[in-house]
Amino acid sequence: MSDLSGTTTIVVGASRGLGRGVATAFAEAGAPVVAVSRTATAFPEPAAGTITLEAADAGDPTVPADLIDRYDPGVVILVAGATPHMRPLQHHTWETFSVNWQTDVRIAFHWLREVLLTPLRPGSRVVVVSSGAALAGSPLSGGYAGAKATQRFITGYAQDEAKRAGLDLTFTAVFPRMTPLTGLGQSAARAYAARTGQTEEEYLKAMGPVLTPEIAGAALVELVQTDAASVAPGYLLTGAGLQKLP
Ligand SMILES: NC(=O)c1ccc[n+]([C@@H]2O[C@H](COP(=O)([O-])OP(=O)(O)OC[C@H]3O[C@@H](n4cnc5c(N)ncnc54)[C@H](OP(=O)(O)O)[C@@H]3O)[C@@H](O)[C@H]2O)c1
Repeated sequence: MSDLSGTTTIVVGASRGLGRGVATAFAEAGAPVVAVSRTATAFPEPAAGTITLEAADAGDPTVPADLIDRYDPGVVILVAGATPHMRPLQHHTWETFSVNWQTDVRIAFHWLREVLLTPLRPGSRVVVVSSGAALAGSPLSGGYAGAKATQRFITGYAQDEAKRAGLDLTFTAVFPRMTPLTGLGQSAARAYAARTGQTEEEYLKAMGPVLTPEIAGAALVELVQTDAASVAPGYLLTGAGLQKLP
């Protein structure tokens, strides 16, 4: 998949944050991109490729079937997620605790299911953006880490079902480290800095190079262009790029 010009790429959660960087990077790599989010936010005209906006709630179970049917993508990237409420466990209600299950897990469930049922054509690639919190926990964000860990599990389940059915599909989970450059990451960084008694700057400095939407976009283009046979089931994503998880 080194030449993306003939590969329609659906990016779910593309209006801002990491997903916007991913949609932009795939278009710049020459792909026809379908940018999905509830609010249709315009992109500057890409130098290569194209970006088609689709305003839709990706958690609506009818949406993946409709978009996969209409666009016949060779790459599907699920980035969309809700911003968790940052507070200690006892200050959560069930509703605030479960918000990422109702959004992030719900979206991954409906899209992975549809990818397998359609199925996407042989050689297609699916990337699910989970979180570093799935590996380390996230004590201030209720059910967030558990929801992101479930995304990792079901990405693996989807890979297994594809193999059992003889479908040539590759599923990869990506685990970004916290970045203050998106709304979601900024509220998390602020809450954890306050909890550890550090300034936001001090807290973030200890985390190493900052992950930007541009770095995330370039990393996912590189991942999709890597030969499927050498792709790992999961990668940590930091400001230094992708790192295979054992
Ligand atoms: N930022 C970080 O520090 C960080 C760290 C680790 C993991 N992550 C993960 O990376 C992903 C992106 O995070 P981000 O920081 O870029 O978040 P963000 O800036 O809040 O962007 C979230 C994107 O998802 C879209 N979205 C949310 N619900 C949707 C729905 N039901 N249907 C369609 N689109 C939906 C939003 O668009 P609309 O609101 O217009 O629908 C927006 O484009 C998330 O899964 C997050 O958990 C982020």
